[in-house]
Amino acid sequence: MNYESEITKRKTFAIISHPDAGKTTLTEKLLLYSGAINIAGAVKSNKIKKTAASDFLEIEKQRGISVATSVLSFDYKEHKINLLDTPGHKDFAEDTYRTLTAVDSVILVIDCVKGVEEQTEKLMGVCRMRNTPVIIFINKLDREGREPIELLDELESKLSIRVRPLTWPLGMGYKFRGVYNIHKSTFAFYQTNKTKIEEDVQLFNGLEDPALDDVFRDEAKVLRHDVELIDAIYDDFDKKAYLEGKLAPVFFGSALNNFGINELLETFVEIAPAPSKRESTTGIIQPDHSEFSGFVFKIHANLDPRHRDRIAFLRIVSGKFERNKFYHHVRLNRDLKFSNPATFMAANKTVVEDAFPGDVIGLYDSGTFMIGDTLTEGENFIFKGIPRFAPEIFRVVRNQDPFKTKQLEKGIQYLTDEGLAQLFTQDGGNKKVIGVVGELQFDVLKYRLLHEYGASVEFAGMSAYKAFWVKFSDESEIDELKRIRNNYLYFDKNENLVFIAESEYSITMARQKNPKAEFLSAIEQNERVLKLQ
Ligand code: G4P
Repeated sequence: MNYESEITKRKTFAIISHPDAGKTTLTEKLLLYSGAINIAGAVKSNKIKKTAASDFLEIEKQRGISVATSVLSFDYKEHKINLLDTPGHKDFAEDTYRTLTAVDSVILVIDCVKGVEEQTEKLMGVCRMRNTPVIIFINKLDREGREPIELLDELESKLSIRVRPLTWPLGMGYKFRGVYNIHKSTFAFYQTNKTKIEEDVQLFNGLEDPALDDVFRDEAKVLRHDVELIDAIYDDFDKKAYLEGKLAPVFFGSALNNFGINELLETFVEIAPAPSKRESTTGIIQPDHSEFSGFVFKIHANLDPRHRDRIAFLRIVSGKFERNKFYHHVRLNRDLKFSNPATFMAANKTVVEDAFPGDVIGLYDSGTFMIGDTLTEGENFIFKGIPRFAPEIFRVVRNQDPFKTKQLEKGIQYLTDEGLAQLFTQDGGNKKVIGVVGELQFDVLKYRLLHEYGASVEFAGMSAYKAFWVKFSDESEIDELKRIRNNYLYFDKNENLVFIAESEYSITMARQKNPKAEFLSAIEQNERVLKLQ
């Protein structure tokens, strides 16, 4: 197979949702439909869920929260599909945002009872920023949910995206009959069958087909009315608008009952984009650029806590990656080769010989990678667009075991490299502050520092509003800041100057008094803004 077709057969995407909307269930069902797994019954399906690939961490098992991001690769027909799983819990949203930089499209799952929820809006905000194409799956139609038309309105108004239903449900909850495919004029009948993957589908000769009356009796009128209404309200599906991230096709179904998955998967492989270009410090890198390049968007602790090595997840942007070949680590200016690059299928890892744009490979790492690192075949550029957000919750690190100081420092360095939290060290002092996006990350840090590094730590409260990276071209531009706010100045691990403002007022004043300096609430991963001399 030639290089060109290796690229076009790939689809790299993520499923996103507010927790509990059905992301995990849909993931499993897509694997089931593609033949990647074989589940004999609903009980087993739940069991697979509980031991799914995303259960990397012990803490996750304890809390039942999907902390980790995992990668699932599977074949469907002539396509190679890479599904990047994302943590559902909002305290790990930053991890999800980074994963979204590594995909080319997403499927958004909505719970038909709850509609658009808080996390749905945030995640879609990130997709909209990057113009990521979105397909929407409205789930749990077997439940008494909200009116479909009302849900569509809410999607458009809250997510600022146009929608176009491609299927339409007849009934809901205990009256749910199935979904009508508007383009193919087929009706898929709903059955409460959690194991079978074939659907009972009947072809009609359009909405006027009298067979509709025979099959649905009075409900045929409802179906005709609804579909005509939909066709009148919504423009025809426009693939170009979908690929530009402006229009989202909508499907209805019930992941738990294996219903509506087929339509979703078939349409996904038909319309979802092949691996796309990425922006770098020297310009756009196209997937068909002949030389290999890729970036690390995720670093994960090893499954086995006895070994400290980690897995760096690398998304390939261009060229062909080959095992045991030297590649250039741009940040470190070092050439490295990888003898055991891995691909993933649920909990199983296999060694890959080669990989192509769109693929995500796992590289064993003993501390050489940070999130945002670029590997090339020798070229000197760094991929852009992997964000690092300013944390909003801060705590001071208090070492509880002075004999383990080294372990604590090492542990914090490693865990912050993974992107779990950010470390700030006070300017001229020794105070170490950890900043996170969600409270839960402190628990994870504490647990992992103890279990993986033997270091015992407490986090003391600290009143702070937000951190800002300070960018300036001459130190005189921040004289005022250093004079009045020196105690609030820290360095991040890249030696960037950071101002941890204690209130909104304080940052407003800092901006006013230091008008030439910039105070940034997000920077590029590994970016170096100017530091104090
Ligand atoms: P998440 O990954 O988005 O957090 O959601 P997940 O798939 O874990 O699903 C959340 C709950 O919703 C699960 O129930 C799941 O069985 C249920 N669910 C998913 N799809 C459907 C559907 O189409 N219809 C209905 N009625 N329920 C659905 P749970 O009780 O929390 O877990 P479990 O005991 O079933 O594992």
